[in-house]
Amino acid sequence: MPQPIIAPSILNSDFSRLGEEIGRIKTADWVHVDIMDGHFVPNLSFGPDITATVDRLTDQPLDVHLMIEEPEKWVDRYIDAGADTVIFHVEATEDPVALARHLREKGVRAAFSLRPGTPLEDYLDVLDEFDQVLVMSVEPGFGGQSFMPDQLDKVRTLRREIAERGLELTVEIDGGINAETIREAAAAGVDAFVAGSAVYKSDDPAAAVEELRAAAAEAAEAAQR
Ligand code: DX5
Ligand code: ZN
Repeated sequence: MPQPIIAPSILNSDFSRLGEEIGRIKTADWVHVDIMDGHFVPNLSFGPDITATVDRLTDQPLDVHLMIEEPEKWVDRYIDAGADTVIFHVEATEDPVALARHLREKGVRAAFSLRPGTPLEDYLDVLDEFDQVLVMSVEPGFGGQSFMPDQLDKVRTLRREIAERGLELTVEIDGGINAETIREAAAAGVDAFVAGSAVYKSDDPAAAVEELRAAAAEAAEAAQR
């Protein structure tokens, strides 16, 4: 079984010392970059320039989560900034398939995300256009919220589709992931885990990442038996 992917969100890191903060998560597989525009979500974070700065500060792949309206107008800026995976919200665009094809043509991994209230069923027939699906386990907008376990039904549906159709799709989860909730998510079949406060509120973020990965691996293995 592949090792769980841990992607710390830098949203709750100290931006005044971004270099040091990114240096504290060297054990992480990816760096999760949360982009918020104050329209799609009631919060603002940062844009392509800071994303490019993050890319200069690390060799780790950037998992860029666009919580913005009209992502098709912006994706090229984030690709140029160094995104490896671009995640857009299906609620924010008219044509998710066209956008996914554009991303793949540009050589980045294509991903979509869903708000907790958005049903997955409408997107099952286009899964083969994507490399990754991000299941939101909180309402997007802020770090530090509580995990919504009912969202794991989407993870189970995705796992079933992947198995039945032989899809190559990474299932990622974002929101309220900590040393306990990561076990439930891993048992349901998540491959990649975003964790913001669980990593950056820890005294030793690098160790917190390793603990999360170990907990996920243990739970995933137990669920297979
Ligand atoms: C929420 C963001 C998350 C957030 C995760 O809108 O997409 O990535 O930073 O933070 P925690 O792990 O604290 O829920
Ligand atoms: Zn995110």
